Amino acid sequence: MSDRLISGVLSSPDATLDATLRPSLFSEFTGQSKVRERLEIALEAALQRSEPLDHVLLSGPPGLGKTTIANIIAKSMGGNLKCTSGPTIEKAGDLAGLLTNLEAGDILFIDEIHRLQRTIEEYLYPAMEDFKLDIIIDQGPNARSVRLNLPRFTLIGATTRSGLLTSPLLTRFPIKERLDYYTGEDLQKIVHRSGSILNVQITEEGALEVARRSRGTPRIANNLLRRVRDYAQVKGDGVISAQLADKALAMLDIDNDGLDEMDKRILETIIVKFGGGPVGISSLAVAVGEEKDTLEEVYEPYLIMNGYLNRTPQGRVVTPLSYKKIGLNPSSLNHQGRLF
Ligand SMILES: Nc1ncnc2c1ncn2[C@@H]1O[C@H](COP(=O)(O)OP(=O)(O)O)[C@@H](O)[C@H]1O
Ligand SMILES: [Mg+2]
Repeated sequence: MSDRLISGVLSSPDATLDATLRPSLFSEFTGQSKVRERLEIALEAALQRSEPLDHVLLSGPPGLGKTTIANIIAKSMGGNLKCTSGPTIEKAGDLAGLLTNLEAGDILFIDEIHRLQRTIEEYLYPAMEDFKLDIIIDQGPNARSVRLNLPRFTLIGATTRSGLLTSPLLTRFPIKERLDYYTGEDLQKIVHRSGSILNVQITEEGALEVARRSRGTPRIANNLLRRVRDYAQVKGDGVISAQLADKALAMLDIDNDGLDEMDKRILETIIVKFGGGPVGISSLAVAVGEEKDTLEEVYEPYLIMNGYLNRTPQGRVVTPLSYKKIGLNPSSLNHQGRLF
C-alpha cells in the first residue's frame, strides 16, 4: 500500500468527513441565496436587539442543508444547539426535559418535526409563543397543572414534508423557509470546496460532471465525489477529469441525467405495470419495493421537477420524457401498458 493510500484510509472515516464538509458559516454556504439573505437579515436584526432569533421552520427534500443552516444559526447567535427529532420525543416528559434544560439564547433543533405526536405538539404551543410550559404533576385526584417559565430560546424545526404539519404549529413559526434543489453551478462550487477540503485534484469540468449528476443535492454531490475520488485513485492517476467522472458515475449506475437505478425502476414500473398511470402511491411503493415515505420525500420531488412525473388527484402519471428515458415508445404498449 502506498503512503498516500494509507494516509487516505486513516484520515477519512466518513462520519468525520461529514462534519468537515459541513459549512459552519453563511459565508461558506453556497446557493439558496434568497433564503440565506432573509435568514442573515433576521439574525443580524435579532443580534442588534440582543434578542433570540424568532422560531424558524426549514423545509425541503433531504440533503439540501437544513441541519447545516441550524448549525450556522446557532453558531452565529452564540447559543448552544440542542438537537432532537420528532420521532424520538415519545412522551410529553421528554419534551419538558429538553425545554427546561435550555438556557437563554439556546437553539432547540427538532428534525423531522412533522413526526411529532399531536399530544406532545400541544405542549410546544405555549412554549413557542409565551415561553411557558404547562406540566401536569402528580396523578389521580392530586393531579394539577403547573406553569413553568422557560428561558427565551429559538426553535428550529426541520421537515421534509411541511404539508404534514398542523396549522397551529405552522403558524407559530414566524420564519418559514423552503430549500430548493441546487443549480448545477452552485453544486459545482460545492464539489470544488469539498474537493479542496478532501485534498482531491478535480478539474472544473470534472466538478461540473459530478455536480450535474447529483440530483441537485449537496449531500449526494459530496457522496459521489468520494466514490469518484476512490475510482480516480484506483483506476486513474488521482485527478478527477470530466471523462473519469463520467466513467466512475456510469459504474455507480448514475445515468447521464443523474437518475439512479431506483428512479428508473419507478418510471419503468409505472409504464410497464400501470400503463403509464395514474397509479396510487401505495401500489407503486409495493411494486418497486420501497417505503411510501421515501418515494414521496426523496424520489418524487426530483422526478416531478425534471418533468418525468406528474402528481394528479387520481395518482402518479409519467410523461413522454419518461418513455424516452426508459427507451420505450408509448405506442409499443397496449392499453394496459404491457409490451406487445
Ligand atoms: N449550501 C451548502 N453548501 C455546501 N455544502 C452543503 C450545503 N448544503 C448542504 N451541504 C452539505 O450537504 C450535507 C447535507 O446537508 P444537511 O444540512 O445535513 O441536509 P438536510 O439536513 O437538509 O438533510 C452537509 O453535510 C453539507 O456538507
Ligand atoms: Mg438533516
